[in-house]
Order: sequence, then C-alpha cells, then structure tokens
Amino acid sequence: MTIDFYWRIGMGGDHATLRTPRRLNRGDWRGIHPGNLTPAIRAGERDSYSYIDHMAAVAKASESAGFVGGLLPSFPGTDDPWAAAAALARETSTYRFMVAFQPGFLHPLQAARMSASLQHATGGRLVYNIISGGGGPAQLWWGDKVAHDDRYRRTSEFLDVLKGVWGSAPFDYDGDFFSTEGAVLPPQLAETPFPEIYFSGSSGAAVNAAGTHADYYLSWLEPFADLRAKFDGVREHAARLGRRPRFAVRIDVLARHTAEAAWAEIAEGWQHVDRAAANRQAQGDSVGAGRIKGWVPENITDYTDLEVQPNVWCGFSLLRGGPAFGLVGSYEQVAERLDELIDLGVDAFILAGNPHLEEAYRVGEEVLPLLGRSRLGRAETTAGSVLGVA
Ligand SMILES: Cc1cc2nc3c(=O)[nH]c(=O)nc-3n(C[C@H](O)[C@H](O)[C@H](O)COP(=O)(O)O)c2cc1C
Repeated sequence: MTIDFYWRIGMGGDHATLRTPRRLNRGDWRGIHPGNLTPAIRAGERDSYSYIDHMAAVAKASESAGFVGGLLPSFPGTDDPWAAAAALARETSTYRFMVAFQPGFLHPLQAARMSASLQHATGGRLVYNIISGGGGPAQLWWGDKVAHDDRYRRTSEFLDVLKGVWGSAPFDYDGDFFSTEGAVLPPQLAETPFPEIYFSGSSGAAVNAAGTHADYYLSWLEPFADLRAKFDGVREHAARLGRRPRFAVRIDVLARHTAEAAWAEIAEGWQHVDRAAANRQAQGDSVGAGRIKGWVPENITDYTDLEVQPNVWCGFSLLRGGPAFGLVGSYEQVAERLDELIDLGVDAFILAGNPHLEEAYRVGEEVLPLLGRSRLGRAETTAGSVLGVA
C-alpha cells in the first residue's frame, strides 16, 4: 500500500512562527518592511524577490523532504493556483501540483485545455482539488449566488464535460450550467493523463457528487471517530454507484522532539489569541465548517480545552486562520496518530505547518520516517512501504 504525502504551499503569505499569530511576514500580504522575507526593503527600495520565489523555496524543500506534491489553496485573498503551478513546475522535477479551484468560475473547455497543457508541460503533475465553495462573502466575491446544493450540481456537470472532452471523439453536452458542441481536445493534449480528482465537501450534496467523481474524498481533520463515520458514508454511497474512492485528510502539524516542547509553542501563541474570535460564527453555508464549529467548546478558558482527543487540537484556526484541527505532540506521537489514520482508511495526507519552509523539512525528516513504527510487530507494513516517497 502506498500513502501519498502532500505538503501545503501557503498562497497568501506565511507566518514565520505560530508563536506570534497573525503576523504574516513572509510575503507582502501584511505590508513590506525590513525583516519581511519577501519582498523586502533593501537600501530603501522594494527588492525584486517576489512571493513566488518563496513558494518555489517551499516547493523545492518539501520535494526534497519526501513529499510527492503540494496543495495550492484558492481564496479571494490568495495568488491564483493555476498561474503559480505553471511557474513552480519549472522549479521542481517530480513534485505534483494540487490546484484548488471552484468549477463554477471557469468554462470546462477552458479548464480542460489549461489542465491538459499543464499535463503536457509537466509530464502529468497536475492534480485537482475540486472545491464547490462555502457560501458567504467569499462566494459573493466571485459574484456567485448559486444555492449550496446547486453548486454541487454545477460541479458535477463541469466534471462530466471536462472528462467528456478529454477523449478522442467529439463531445456534445447540454446541461443547466454548461453546454458544448462537437468539443474535443487536440490529440497531443487529449493523450495526456486526466488529473486525479481530490474532492472536498461534507454535505449530502458533496457526498453525492463525490460518489460519482472523486478519486480521493478529501476532508479536513476531525475527531477520528467522526472522520471514520464520514468516510463510511462516502464509501457506502460510492459503492451504490459501483465506485471505490480513496480517502485523504488535510492536517496541520506541530511536532517537536518532545510533547512538552510542542505544547509550549501552542501556549506561547495562545497568549496572543483573540478570545472573542473563538466564539465567532462561521460565515456562509459550509456544512463542513459547521461540523468543525460543533466540536469547539463554547467556553474556552485555556488552550488545553481544545485538545479533543490525545494530540488532536482544534485551535489552529485561532492562531493562523484556516481549518481548526491539527496534530500537536512529539514526533513519535504525531507519527502514531498518522498511523491510526492510515489504519482508519486514509490513503493520502496533505500536511502543513508554519512556517511552511522550515516545517516541511522538519516533518519530512523527523515525522514521516517514524510512520509504521507503531504497528511494527502487528502488521507487515513498515515505514518504507507506507511512504509513497523516497
Ligand atoms: C481539505 C479542504 C480544502 C479546501 N480548500 C478550499 C480552498 O482552497 N478554497 C475554498 O474556497 N474552499 C476550500 N474548501 C471548502 C470547500 O470548497 C467547500 O466549500 C466546503 O467544504 C463546504 O462544502 P460543504 O457544505 O459540502 O461541507 C476546502 C475544503 C476542504 C475539506
């Protein structure tokens, strides 16, 4: 069995440390000043080192630390993942680019041609993270007022067309959202491999569409028992359609030599947390975000209240925005939890840590080699055989 480990590439700046939350000083998202990594003020002038140079450093670091590729998220406040993937591909050799995008905002023919061109140029290193949007202000930024479940119908149509035009025969489609007549990619593009589909969303509509289209059903981390139940639901639904998707989880990791050292980082970052933010309502109609909120305690007195099971901490969103759940602990403890997730049915991980550059090396060198240890003696799997990496 091969498990794929991806890293996350921060697309909207990066924190130099979680101990000083919300201080994005890698990238120009929070102003340019001396001490900013990229760009910086040198001799009174803004230098030409751009954020894409920093992303390239993260991609190269995680590639050499053993990750098979990187997730490029997409939000109104980030760089564009398609453009970034095209630029970063030339900086790496085998690294795959998992481009997050909302199907509603691209015509599927445009997406098919862009994707196939990238496949052609990179030797097949494009992977999709199909996201259907979480409603609220981020959706309106795109001018998108389509209702929650209809967004998944649109996603499904989009993927039908994308797959349809990637063949050898002219393809016709007349749907509610997209149509095309006699469409087919030119042969040199059509012969490139169709990208793997990672598919996110926790709602019934998402599970329906994932059943038809997902190669990997992708979730944020949740308490393990809930994750298991969620995967069971997706597996059962897909089985009724004659399909067997694999499963992937996106996880923030804070691992250190000792558990004490890891929790000390959290404790220090916690001093800067805006407690009011802890109780703020998630905006939008995302069922997945609503599930997460349900596990965050109402009254938080200390960061320790947020450890919902050993090493599983749901306060990351308070330190740096983004998903709430992640793993905190010693290298061994984090590896054990990852092993448990593999036992639970996870086939691929997207890991992340701040700062993304240094933590890519740390997790790649200190945590991934320990995988499989906790099950040595009770299964044939070893660290070498679970990693889909050198
Ligand atoms: C692992 C993961 C990564 C996601 N990445 C993005 C992203 O980069 N941009 C975005 O707008 N939404 C992202 N989403 C949100 C999904 O698109 C979707 O809106 C959300 O899961 C709500 O769907 P639901 O109501 O079916 O749960 C992500 C979701 C997951 C689980």
